Amino acid sequence: MRLGLAAMMAAGAAVLAACAALQSSPRDGALALMQRDFHAEGIAGMDRLKEDDVQAACNKYKDSPPAELDAKLRGKQYAGVKWPADGKLLGDWKAGEKIAQNGRGMTWRDKGGVGGGCYNCHQIGPDTTSFGTIGPSLYQFGKLRGYGTDIQRYAYAKIYNAKAYNVCSQMPRFGHVGALTEAQMKDVTALLMDPASPVNR
Ligand code: HEC
Repeated sequence: MRLGLAAMMAAGAAVLAACAALQSSPRDGALALMQRDFHAEGIAGMDRLKEDDVQAACNKYKDSPPAELDAKLRGKQYAGVKWPADGKLLGDWKAGEKIAQNGRGMTWRDKGGVGGGCYNCHQIGPDTTSFGTIGPSLYQFGKLRGYGTDIQRYAYAKIYNAKAYNVCSQMPRFGHVGALTEAQMKDVTALLMDPASPVNR
C-alpha cells in the first residue's frame, strides 16, 4: 500500500507528538500504562501503583534525597518497625533458610507470608548454588558482625524495613508491606544470627 504524502506527514506528526509526550514525562506515561493494564485481584489492589512518601522522594531525587529529608524519612520508617511482642528476635534458622530460598509471595493468590526470596539478591550460605548480587553477600553475617543484641536488632529491623537504614534501598520492606509474618522474620533473623546456621559456618 502506498501512503499519500499528507497521510505520511500526519502519521509522522503523530509519532513526533507521542515522542515529545514521552520525553516530557516518561514516568507519567509508564504510570498511565500500568494503571490501564493492571487489574486488581486478591491481595494485589490498585494501591500497589501508588507511591508512598519514601518512593516519591527517591523517584524525585533519583535515589538521593537531600540529607535533611533523607534523615526525616528514614526516621519515620524506623519508627514504624514493630518489634516482636515477646522480645525474642531469633526463631528457627532451619525454617528461616526455607523462607530465604523461597522466591514466592505477594501474588494475588497469596495471603502474604510465603517466601523472602533473599537468594535473588544475596549469597546466603556456602552451599547456595545460585544467587543474585544486587545486595551484599550475607555469608558469615553473624560471624563477622558478632552475635550481640544490637546486631540482632539491626538484622531484624533491616528485614522488617530496609528503608529504615537506607531510604532508597532496593531491598523489599518485608514487615512493612506484610510480605513476611513476625514469626518468619524471626526465623530469617536466626538464619543470619544463629552460630549453628550455615550462614555462619
Ligand atoms: C531485591 C533485592 C533484595 C532482596 C530480595 C533482599 N535484599 Fe537484602 N539487601 C539488598 C540490598 C541492595 C542491600 C544493600 C543496600 C541496603 O543496605 O539497603 C541489602 C542489604 C541487606 C542487609 C544488610 C547487610 C549489611 O551488611 O549490613 C541484610 C541483613 C539483608 N539485606 C538481608 C536480607 C534478607 C534476610 C532478605 C530476605 C528476607 C533480603 N535481604 C532480601 C537487596 C535485597
